[in-house]
Amino acid sequence: MVAELLEDDEDRLDLIDCPVLVTERLVLRAPHTEDVDAIARLADNPRVAEMLSRMPHPYTQDHAVDFVRRANAGEIGKCVYAITLAQSGTFIGCCGINYRRSKDMRINEPRKDELEIGYWLGEPHWGKGYATETAHALVDLVFRATQVEKLHASCRVSNIGSRRVLYKSGFQYANTGMMDSLAAGNVPVERYMLDRRTWIGLRSWNT
Ligand SMILES: CC(C)(COP(=O)(O)OP(=O)(O)OC[C@H]1O[C@@H](n2cnc3c(N)ncnc32)[C@H](O)[C@@H]1OP(=O)(O)O)[C@@H](O)C(=O)NCCC(=O)NCCS
Repeated sequence: MVAELLEDDEDRLDLIDCPVLVTERLVLRAPHTEDVDAIARLADNPRVAEMLSRMPHPYTQDHAVDFVRRANAGEIGKCVYAITLAQSGTFIGCCGINYRRSKDMRINEPRKDELEIGYWLGEPHWGKGYATETAHALVDLVFRATQVEKLHASCRVSNIGSRRVLYKSGFQYANTGMMDSLAAGNVPVERYMLDRRTWIGLRSWNT
C-alpha cells in the first residue's frame, strides 16, 4: 500500500492549512497560551494520559506551556487543535491530524505519507458526544483538503469509548498492534482505517 503512494503525497499533505473548524457545538482552533491552565488541569489525569502515546503523567504547567509552544511551531503534528465550546469558549480538550506513526507505533518515528487523527477530552466533558463531533470535523477536513484515500486512527484495546467514537465516524477495524505510551508503557492497540469511498457514503453523519 505504502509503496503504491505517489512520490508527492507528502507534499500534498503539507497543503492542509489547518483552518479553524466550527461544528454544531464546538470550535476547533490552534492552542493559545491562555489555554495553558486548562490544559494542565484537564491533562493531569491518568485516565486521559494512559490512553495516549505522548502525554506524560503527572502533567505539569510546564508540560502545557511546552505543548502550546511546540504545537504552534509545527513540532507535534500536522494540525493541532484546542477543542472549545462554541457558546462559552471553554477549553475542553485537544485533537489533531498527525503524520501516521510507523508500523510498530514507536514514538518519534512518524511516517510522512499517511495521516491519522487523535483526540482527548477532559474528564468533566466526557459522554456528551463531543469526541464524535470532533472526529467528524477532522475526518471531513482530511478528505476535503487532501487527496489521501485512507485515514488512520488507533485506540487501546481497553478504550471502549474511543472505539465507539471511531465506529461512529465510519472507521473500520484494521489490525492489532503495540503502542509505546509515556504514561502506560508498551500496550496493545487496535488500529482503524477509514477510506474515502466510505466517507463519501457517510458524509452527512446520519448514521
Ligand atoms: C475516549 C473519549 C475521547 C471519548 O470522548 P466522549 O466525548 O465521551 O465520546 P462521545 O460522547 O462522542 O462518544 C463516546 C461513546 O462511547 C460510549 N462509551 C464511553 N465509555 C463507554 C464504556 N465504558 N462502555 C461502553 N460504551 C462507552 C458512549 O456511550 C458513547 O457512545 P454512544 O454515543 O453510542 O452512547 C474520552 O473519554 C477521552 O478523551 N478519554 C481519554 C483520552 C482518550 O482516550 N483519547 C482517545 C485516544 S484513542
